[in-house]
Amino acid sequence: MKTSLFTIALLSLALSLPFPSFSQRCNKKDEKNLLRIKKSFGNPDALQTWTKDSDCCSWYSVQCDEYTDRISALTIYSGNISGRIPEAIGNLPYLETIILRKLTNLTGQIPATITKLTHLKTLTISWTNLSGPIPSFLGQIKSLTSLDLSFNSFTGTIPPELSMLPKLKTLHLDRNKLTGSVPESFGNFTGKVPAIYLSHNLLNGTVPESLAHANFTWLDLSRNRLEGNLSVFFGTNKTIKAANFSRNMFEFNFSNMDQFPASLSALDLNHNRIYGSLPGTLTGLKLQTWNVSYNKLCGEIPAGGNLQKYDNTAYFHNKCLCGSPLPAC
Ligand SMILES: *[C@@H]1O[C@H](CO)[C@@H](O)[C@H](O)[C@H]1NC(C)=O
Ligand SMILES: *[C@@H]1O[C@H](CO)[C@@H](O)[C@H](O)[C@H]1NC(C)=O
Ligand SMILES: *[C@@H]1O[C@H](CO)[C@@H](O)[C@H](O)[C@H]1NC(C)=O
Ligand SMILES: *[C@@H]1O[C@H](CO)[C@@H](O)[C@H](O)[C@H]1NC(C)=O
Ligand SMILES: *[C@@H]1O[C@H](CO)[C@@H](O)[C@H](O)[C@H]1NC(C)=O
Ligand SMILES: *[C@@H]1O[C@H](CO)[C@@H](O)[C@H](O)[C@H]1NC(C)=O
Ligand SMILES: *[C@@H]1O[C@H](CO)[C@@H](O)[C@H](O)[C@H]1NC(C)=O
Ligand SMILES: *[C@@H]1O[C@H](CO)[C@@H](O)[C@H](O)[C@H]1NC(C)=O
Ligand SMILES: *[C@@H]1O[C@H](CO)[C@@H](O)[C@H](O)[C@H]1NC(C)=O
Ligand SMILES: *[C@@H]1O[C@H](CO)[C@@H](O)[C@H](O)[C@H]1NC(C)=O
Ligand SMILES: *[C@@H]1O[C@H](CO)[C@@H](O)[C@H](O)[C@H]1NC(C)=O
Repeated sequence: MKTSLFTIALLSLALSLPFPSFSQRCNKKDEKNLLRIKKSFGNPDALQTWTKDSDCCSWYSVQCDEYTDRISALTIYSGNISGRIPEAIGNLPYLETIILRKLTNLTGQIPATITKLTHLKTLTISWTNLSGPIPSFLGQIKSLTSLDLSFNSFTGTIPPELSMLPKLKTLHLDRNKLTGSVPESFGNFTGKVPAIYLSHNLLNGTVPESLAHANFTWLDLSRNRLEGNLSVFFGTNKTIKAANFSRNMFEFNFSNMDQFPASLSALDLNHNRIYGSLPGTLTGLKLQTWNVSYNKLCGEIPAGGNLQKYDNTAYFHNKCLCGSPLPAC
């Protein structure tokens, strides 16, 4: 009896307290900046939970750090977000993750205020309508481990400054309209060489000699207009594991390219202008993925290793390749 009276007394006290009556984890500055962001995104339906009468740590598309209660993630995967990425994004100093994805009405550029985010590890801006050059100031966000700007409308060349990100593990710049070649500085990453995806762009010219100094592991240069040979990636002292060079204009005599890294397990070279014949050293590789179709190769496919484990489509549409799995010479 006594207890329930006490409870009722507490309850009525709570109800009489001035608004807001919920416990507030959210940092006030973060709340203010998120509301600014909502406004510059045009108050979209996707952010309708972002209102002053609730704790911003409980809003959709954001996350608070459990120790600091500061906003640590902003992750918007869809919604009618329009306009530019607001400068206020740089005023959420504890952000570790930004993911803005499938927002086709998001336009303009990445604001320079993003360089203030010294804890930012993951930056994904993908399937949006951002355009213009990829800003070189991204090279200042030293904490970045993953940078994904794929499926946008970025133009211009790849900023060489990206090689100065010491913790970068993955770089996705695929599906844009980038021109020029791979930057020379990519032979010289400050940290470990990240997995690099540059496919479906307009990259042209030859890959720079400086890349010979870097130990690439995963590299996708497919669907570009790159020329020349691939000697900078091959050789017995390299450590590349998987490479996709398909659908470019690489042109070289494969007979002279006969030193391969033992680590190589996936190599896609389809749709290039590679000539000469396939070197016998290829039989020494543990290739899991292999395709040289649509080139200008000739001569007998070396027998052995994994080279006969693929169907004829790995070899078809060449000048005069022959032997298993193609018809005998
Ligand atoms: C983008 O904006 C246009 C014009 O304002 C609108 O018609 C369209 O529905 C919007 N797209 C999305 C995904 O909301
Ligand atoms: C998206 O937002 C724009 C501008 O705020 C508006 O004109 C359009 O009708 C919206 N589209 C949808 C599908 O909600
Ligand atoms: C991107 O913006 C252009 C105009 O700037 C528009 O024509 C196009 O439809 C937009 N693309 C998408 C996927 O919304
Ligand atoms: C490689 O890095 C070193 C040291 O940071 C620098 O001196 C050199 O200019 C860089 N080379 C290229 C090609 O970026
Ligand atoms: C690459 O393409 C750009 C834009 O089309 C052009 O200006 C440049 O000359 C090309 N570079 C090479 C090396 O082909
Ligand atoms: C491979 O060896 C060549 C010459 O011996 C050297 O220039 C190059 O830096 C080496 N590459 C790697 C990735 O160690
Ligand atoms: C690349 O890997 C080779 C072989 O593992 C090693 O000898 C060389 O020092 C590495 N080079 C760089 C630049 O990390
Ligand atoms: C290589 O890239 C092409 C074009 O981007 C793609 O179609 C193909 O599946 C890729 N190959 C592998 C082995 O992933
Ligand atoms: C590759 O091209 C470079 C110059 O760009 C040349 O020195 C080298 O001999 C070529 N290697 C092959 C195998 O064609
Ligand atoms: C490719 O190189 C080999 C070995 O040097 C040579 O015998 C052959 O004639 C070359 N093929 C072509 C098409 O140049
Ligand atoms: C090789 O690439 C060609 C062209 O993209 C494709 O049609 C074929 O299925 C591929 N074959 C294998 C075994 O990957």
